Amino acid sequence: MIFAAVLAGGSGSRMGATALPKQFLPLGEKPVLIHTLDPFLRIPQIDAVFVLTPQDWIEYTREQLHTYLPDADVEVTAAGATRNDTLLCAIRYVCAHYPVDEETILLTHDAVRPFVTKKMIEENIAAVREDGACDTVIPATDTIVRSADGAFIADIPPRSELYQGQTPQSFRLLELQRTVESLSPEETLSLTDACKIYTVRGKKVRLVAGSPSNMKITYADDLPLAEAILNARK
Ligand code: CTP
Repeated sequence: MIFAAVLAGGSGSRMGATALPKQFLPLGEKPVLIHTLDPFLRIPQIDAVFVLTPQDWIEYTREQLHTYLPDADVEVTAAGATRNDTLLCAIRYVCAHYPVDEETILLTHDAVRPFVTKKMIEENIAAVREDGACDTVIPATDTIVRSADGAFIADIPPRSELYQGQTPQSFRLLELQRTVESLSPEETLSLTDACKIYTVRGKKVRLVAGSPSNMKITYADDLPLAEAILNARK
């Protein structure tokens, strides 16, 4: 089976003061989260779609789903304190409610990347089937400078080898569970990206092509940018 977990458990502190957490803010005529869910709901291979939100926003999320996607079957459950905790909540939710085996696939996606496409999701599914795990990325366009002390350059890695990570990030569910649960408390604090956890453990993660428009709404300035992308797509 294939499951999609849309991670909406963040507080969006880098957005500054907003009326609602950024995943619920309006983008065009619908909340950000509703845009994000749309392509996942149009892929028949996906057996179930979940949204993980902070406990206090579960009812609100259900109301929004009822308003904007009345016919869609989207399950809402509690997120965790950190993004990794939310990922674990997603794994445990699937294990508690569905039969799982080594072939079960979990697609994970940031609720605040509303321009994910059906193609990216389908390519994630194909990549996990073939190689077990994948990350959606775009080639780095800026020169990336590494500095350990924040004052002087330590290294400028060749740009042709550098990519920017986006989501979806997708995995065989049971392998992901074993890998995340193998982390020590120190590793849990430092390894905040599931694909990084895999690479640290020596596991292969395939690259899938993302897009610059698959942006993450992080700062207040990102919302007008998202509006512009939305209008350009119409
Ligand atoms: N996320 C989550 N659970 C958490 C923290 C984050 O599901 N405990 C989700 C966010 O809702 C978002 C995605 O992970 O869809 C990417 O998170 P990011 O935007 O980096 O984090 P936020 O906590 O939302 O924002 P900030 O770091 O500015 O507080």
